[in-house]
Parts: sequence; C-alpha cells; structure tokens
Amino acid sequence: MKIFLTRKIPDDGIKILKNAGLDIEIFPYDRIPKKEEIIAGIKDADALISLLADRIDKEIIDSAPKLKVIGNYAVGYNNIDVEYAKKKGIIVTNTPGVLTDATADLTFALILAAARRVVEGDKFMRQRKFKGWAPTLMLGKDVWGATIGIIGAGRIGQAVAKRAKGFNMRILYYSRKRKEEMDGLGAKFVSLEELLRESDIITLHVPFTPDTRHLIDYEEFEIMKDGAILINTARGEVVNEEVMLKALKSGKLFAAGLDVFYNEPKVNPELFKLDNVVLTPHIGSATERTRRKMAEMVCSDVVRVLRGEEPMNRVV
Ligand code: DGY
Repeated sequence: MKIFLTRKIPDDGIKILKNAGLDIEIFPYDRIPKKEEIIAGIKDADALISLLADRIDKEIIDSAPKLKVIGNYAVGYNNIDVEYAKKKGIIVTNTPGVLTDATADLTFALILAAARRVVEGDKFMRQRKFKGWAPTLMLGKDVWGATIGIIGAGRIGQAVAKRAKGFNMRILYYSRKRKEEMDGLGAKFVSLEELLRESDIITLHVPFTPDTRHLIDYEEFEIMKDGAILINTARGEVVNEEVMLKALKSGKLFAAGLDVFYNEPKVNPELFKLDNVVLTPHIGSATERTRRKMAEMVCSDVVRVLRGEEPMNRVV
C-alpha cells in the first residue's frame, strides 16, 4: 500500500510507516506543495499525511480513488473538507493532546512579549537607541495579577489557565459549555461579553469553524477594555483582521501577539508596520519533542486504519 506525505516529518513517524511495509512517497521539496503536486502524489495512494498548510478539498479527494485515510499532522483540521471525506468513506485523523503544552507555552511567551514589549525592546537595543535607564522607557502592562480571558476551554485553554494560575491571574473563561476542569483551576465561567469587558488579556483557543469565523469582530472590539491585549494562537480567521488593525492603531488594543494569520502563509503587510504586534510564524507546536510525538501519533493512526483497525484520534 502506498502513502504520500506532503512534507518530510520526523523519523520517529517514518520508522512506523516503514515497519508497516508501506510504500512511502514524500514530497521532495521544503515548501508547501501546489494542488497539482498533491494530486500527482495521491492519485494511486491509500493514505495521505497532510499539514495544516495543505488545503485538502473535494478536487484533491476525488483525485485519489484508493484513498482510505488522511492523517493531518496538526490538531486543527479546518484545512480538510472533512464532511466530503466522510461522505467518500475516508477516515480523517489528527494529533490532539501532544501539542497542548507547547502551544500553551507559546501563548504565554506571546502574552509576556506583548505586555512587556520584549520584541520592541530588542529592536530598540539593536538600533543602538538605548541611552540609559529612564523612568518612562518602554512601559508595558502587568501580567502578574492581571485578568485573563480565555476563549475556548478545551485542552489548550485549560493548559493556559494552569499557567495563568502561576501568574496569580484572575481567570475568566468563555466556551460553549461550562468545564469542570476550568472551574477546578479557579477559572470563572462567564459570557463572552463579560469576558471582553473585564479582561486585560484575551487569548483565543477555539477551533476554526463557520461558527467561530470572526468571533472577535466590530462589536467585540467595542466591548473590550481600552488597552487590552489580544493573543491568537488558534486560527487567523477567528478575528476580523481589519478591525484588529484599527484597534491596534488607535490604541484600543495595547498590543497583540499573533501566531496565526488570515490566508497563511500570507501576512497582511500592515501588521509589519506596527510596533505593538508580536508576530511568530505559526509555531505553536514547534518544539522538537512535540513534533516527534505528532509524527508518531499521525503515522500510528494511519497504519491502524490501513490494517482495518480503529484509529486513536479519529476526526470523521
Ligand atoms: C495545530 O496543530 O492545529 C496548531 O495550530 C499548531 O500550532
């Protein structure tokens, strides 16, 4: 049986595919493959391992008559037309759990960097602008003791709450339903409106679905505190980017920390002009250990499906 991978992933995963005796084809270049390149790779494949950067749509799915499983090397799977895959009897798997802490760590890195102007300070130093300690030089916002609003109370939202506890923060959360785990961490379940009104730092941990598209839009920015900080390690499309840009320029937002963007890998050039934005290239799960675990997880599940077994992390 043949498997096509749209990019090289860590050997921990490849070994599993080899041991299963699969015929492995890996897209040979270190870039996102074009649609026709994915189609060429999967036309005779039984399995596909895709990245969140690959758009696996109807046309791609239809080009692979033997395809039985798509393993997405990510926890998010909004890049795949999962409903269509389901209709065609193709199983889709993802990699939840193993990237929770890495993503929560990056969320905190962005919170601290945005609140304390770390990147701006680094740039200032490299530009040789530091002329000595000054009472009002690069004043930021307190993280210790601040109110954090966590939107989404799944694994990553909970891991962020654990870290927030260590920073003595007042923790508010909003999600579709109340979560015992969050309550157990001392977090308070509130409406989206209350969260936006009360939080000094707002952080997003929801999947991107039609329901969460522009969850943070005009009205939500209006309700936010003046000088709030917005962190997005979820998906760019959850926030209306144009409104966010206006809020960053007007000072409504003190700062933003963004790991995800509209139409990645494109990034709105307006963001590059702003000093109060910290930008990272979608590296929420990018630690060596996490990426190795993700590789093991996605490959084991694909092998399970090809053997006719139930995968551990089935999306559809
Ligand atoms: C994922 O895996 O969906 C995350 O966006 C990684 O950062």
